[in-house]
Amino acid sequence: MNPVTKNITFDVAKIREDFPILKRKVNGYPLAYLDNAATSQTPKPVMDVIIDYYSNYNANIHRGVHSLSQEATDKYEQARIKIQKHFNAQKAHEIIFTSGTTHGINLVANGFSAILKEGDEILVSALEHHSNIVPWQMLCEKTGAILRVIPMNEEGELIYPAFEELISENTKMVFLNHVSNALGTVNPIEKIIKKAHSVDAAVLIDGAQAAPHIKADVQELDVDFYVASAHKMCGPTGVGVLYGKEEWLEKLPPYQGGGEMIDTVTFEKTTYAGLPHKFEAGTPNICGGIAFGAAIDYLNQIGFENIASSENDLLNYATKKLMEIDGMKIYGVSKNKTAVISFNIEGLHPYDIGTLLDKMGIAVRTGHHCAQPIMDFYRIPGTVRASFSFYNTKGEVERFIEALKKAKSMLS
Ligand code: ALA
Repeated sequence: MNPVTKNITFDVAKIREDFPILKRKVNGYPLAYLDNAATSQTPKPVMDVIIDYYSNYNANIHRGVHSLSQEATDKYEQARIKIQKHFNAQKAHEIIFTSGTTHGINLVANGFSAILKEGDEILVSALEHHSNIVPWQMLCEKTGAILRVIPMNEEGELIYPAFEELISENTKMVFLNHVSNALGTVNPIEKIIKKAHSVDAAVLIDGAQAAPHIKADVQELDVDFYVASAHKMCGPTGVGVLYGKEEWLEKLPPYQGGGEMIDTVTFEKTTYAGLPHKFEAGTPNICGGIAFGAAIDYLNQIGFENIASSENDLLNYATKKLMEIDGMKIYGVSKNKTAVISFNIEGLHPYDIGTLLDKMGIAVRTGHHCAQPIMDFYRIPGTVRASFSFYNTKGEVERFIEALKKAKSMLS
């Protein structure tokens, strides 16, 4: 992460009051929730929006003439505009509600099956989550396109010169994450997008791990598609966003057929609705979409500079303390990373460490983190991953380190 100045109004104790779950105990210990890359916790203002929806205006949208339906429709469309503004999309209809990042990627991959031809090349990075690998492999099986991989180095960074060698006039698409979920590496997406556009390849950025920490400006990036999930951004599960440039969204065929995505239907022929509805078949996660808008308001109120600054402090402190432990190996040591630390302790299985940490109230993720190619690169079965949020404290990092030392002595 780049150094940033923390705003003096940032008060972590006050912020923690918004998160009731942070007060609970786990196995008799106060919870230290360090699994934020898997999902973030939900603050009270977002919960209030969910309760308000079901208490006062639960109705289907874009369909009824009655007041409740109109209120729900207005709030849902207002949330779309909040998301548009947050990512600085030019038009509200370039914002497609999805069920999450995976849905957004599958929607685009499916659309490209109508565009790619046998022998076309598509480039993926070695740092991807399975959700940004498997849909493209399925696409290659359908179309005969060829998947090529941008390799990574020992530090957990993409090898940019190798990307420059791989990209050619045959490249039709490049897709990679903004931030690696397993290592926290921030990828140099700006120059990758520019280079891809020089050969007219489209670019999809998986922003799932970046969106809670970095405010992406899709116009400035000039990215073709950007996807993210609400639940990593203090919002609910089951809702996310696909940003797509209008010209691409117009070009891609619908993903699912059903109600809401049509203009007219007869048994002879159906015509499709315009954007964004063409990609929003069926009753959506209405409450989730509205709550996503509230989560974006919440994060902006905390301020992305404050978020980056406080998480960076936690990352630096935890890294320093972890390095003092004998046998410690941290995977992903890029200078440009978010507050994710993936590690192993020599001779110990990550699962055993995670289980003992949980017994002491510390929540971390263990395993391959849905990024098996990264684990294969390092020739390990998995790691322990601690991932921090702006609502975590130095005290929690200290408890994590103490618990880790205890687990190590119990397992050695
Ligand atoms: N993709 C989520 C993670 O990295 C679930 O943990």
